[in-house]
Amino acid sequence: MYFGVDYYPEHWPESRWETDAQMMQDAGINLVRLAEFAWSKMEPEDAVFDFSWLDRAMSVLAKVGIKIVLSTPSAAPPPWLWAKIPDIALVDERGRTRTYGSRREYSPTNVAYREHAVRIAQQMGLHYAGNTQVVGWQIDNEFGERCYAPGTRLEFQRWLKQRYGSLEALNECWGTCFWSQIYTDWSQVPVPVQLIHGQHNPSLQLDFSRFISDVYVEFQQLQVDALREICPPEQFITHNLMGFGYPTLNYFDLARTLDLVTWDNYPSGFWVKTPEIVPAPLALGSATMRGLKKKNFWVMEQQSGQGAWDILPPLTRPGEIALWAYQAIAHGADAIVFFRWRTCRFGTEQFWHGILDHDGQGRRRYTEVKQMGQDIARIGDLIAGSEVRAKTAIMLSYDSRFAFQFQKNNPDFLYEQHLTDYFSALHSANIPVDIVSSQDDLSSCDFLIVPALYITESETVKHLEAFVERGGTLIMTARSGVKDHTNIVVDLPLPGLLAPLCGVEVQEYDSLLTGQSRALRCVTSEIAQAGNATVWCDILKLITAKVLIQYDEDFYSGQPVVTLNKVGAGHVIYVGTMGDESFIKSIVTYGANLAGITGLMETPPRVEVMARWQGETRLLFVLNHANTAQQITLEADLIDLVSQQTQSGHVTLQPKQVMILSDITGKVS
Ligand code: GAL
Repeated sequence: MYFGVDYYPEHWPESRWETDAQMMQDAGINLVRLAEFAWSKMEPEDAVFDFSWLDRAMSVLAKVGIKIVLSTPSAAPPPWLWAKIPDIALVDERGRTRTYGSRREYSPTNVAYREHAVRIAQQMGLHYAGNTQVVGWQIDNEFGERCYAPGTRLEFQRWLKQRYGSLEALNECWGTCFWSQIYTDWSQVPVPVQLIHGQHNPSLQLDFSRFISDVYVEFQQLQVDALREICPPEQFITHNLMGFGYPTLNYFDLARTLDLVTWDNYPSGFWVKTPEIVPAPLALGSATMRGLKKKNFWVMEQQSGQGAWDILPPLTRPGEIALWAYQAIAHGADAIVFFRWRTCRFGTEQFWHGILDHDGQGRRRYTEVKQMGQDIARIGDLIAGSEVRAKTAIMLSYDSRFAFQFQKNNPDFLYEQHLTDYFSALHSANIPVDIVSSQDDLSSCDFLIVPALYITESETVKHLEAFVERGGTLIMTARSGVKDHTNIVVDLPLPGLLAPLCGVEVQEYDSLLTGQSRALRCVTSEIAQAGNATVWCDILKLITAKVLIQYDEDFYSGQPVVTLNKVGAGHVIYVGTMGDESFIKSIVTYGANLAGITGLMETPPRVEVMARWQGETRLLFVLNHANTAQQITLEADLIDLVSQQTQSGHVTLQPKQVMILSDITGKVS
């Protein structure tokens, strides 16, 4: 199993490299990612290439047996390239042209920039294709920003032309007769730069989001193709994605031609607003990454210290580095690469703490990584390649996710939060979850949750029908079936194309004010606690479904809000509100029971359990995210591969402790 670090030798004197390599080896590090952002070191002048420093750094690492992932540097074009290409800059959603000074400021459609990005990738490929120390390639860094530059607008118009064929078709699909927006020439179509007042046509906005996503897929592909042509197939090609976090790219598309998905896992920082790190969203990040290719993934940047540019967040607590890394492993990571080896003394990320401090010394964080490195050296090969097996899935729709970005429907509705709420309910019951797209095969799934499928295609409906017909349990939630592919509202009772499957029709809907809720009442004894309706209240008419929960407040008291429809051998639960935590927990518990799904283990809050399977051998990951000791109960004697001790009965986990329980010895190497 690879256990690595992101290393920037160009930030340190060469005289230090051997010490670094030695310290890495001592900590069990066997892989290093290099060269990300090092464009101006590798191509100091236009078409002048210098890999000598990188060769020297790699040979120092080779002496201690460390393998390499090389990253193409296109996220950080050097100053000479900015001087050479006047329109290289990205223009943001407010129409502001990015200026030079940081990174990721390029326009992804700029032809000259693209040529230079491909050229440096090719040069790297030519230089390192035959080097067996190199196991893989990373393209660029964390794609994501939408660009509204004039060149991008031209590309958008071309993309639309290809998609719609004629302006008549586009005008029809977008409903441009509204407010006199009928286009008579492709060049008139704008990019949706934020308006000073008012809002763009939602159809234009959705297509623009899809287009930008395609732009990055295409840009990535240029580099993938360049490397593929030169490098042997043993060298994988990846990109470092951002878990569930980045909302602007269709990650299913981005991952399609990559050999491997990797992601950057930063649990703690100034963006965390809760006093304790909540584990479920981190698990969702990993589950999403595993879902993209239905394969195990790597963490290419795993947080190893407190991270900051200008304002420092709280210190990473003892045990957290390994806890977060093992959590990703529990959800399907086959390698962990820590960001970064040593905290840099200069540049924007001076306070982004790595494993070593500014002074190059290894203190608590180094000791913790070293401990994990020793454990991974012993048990890693048992883990790598083992699989997560889930019978429960959540469908992630990027079309719906995009469309909600410019029409929230309710000030408190956030698609990401809604999906996370359902994931969290499953997570707290220790039910393994796959994240699937609307096209994915559902044959191994028994329980499927489809949150707010706002944009609904008839193909997806057929797919869902087939899933339910053969016995699946499906949960659909409010704001599903509202729009068609072009983001116009359907000419049908809601939930539109999904109404026959759900067996209900929405009569009216109430959009609640912040903080408001509506009391609910269970109609079936199979649901213990109704919880409260929040954010959105569909008032439902039963067609073929029966009521499970009804409103108990307001003029719609007594009307259905949650219903059950029997279809073929399966069931559809329609949930007409977003709901509070206890509501979602009840719905998920009810659905899981119907589907015959049980959690891996009952645990106290903040103790997470996941399983990976190596053939018939189960590795049970038990992770205590709490700041206090917690107890679990085991039904059989199991060996904890981390501590190498047998555990049985009531077992206490110390704060942040991880156990990997199995009935095997764990003595691999
Ligand atoms: C990541 C990025 C790294 C580094 C890190 C800390 O998102 O890929 O290059 O910037 O954040 O900020």
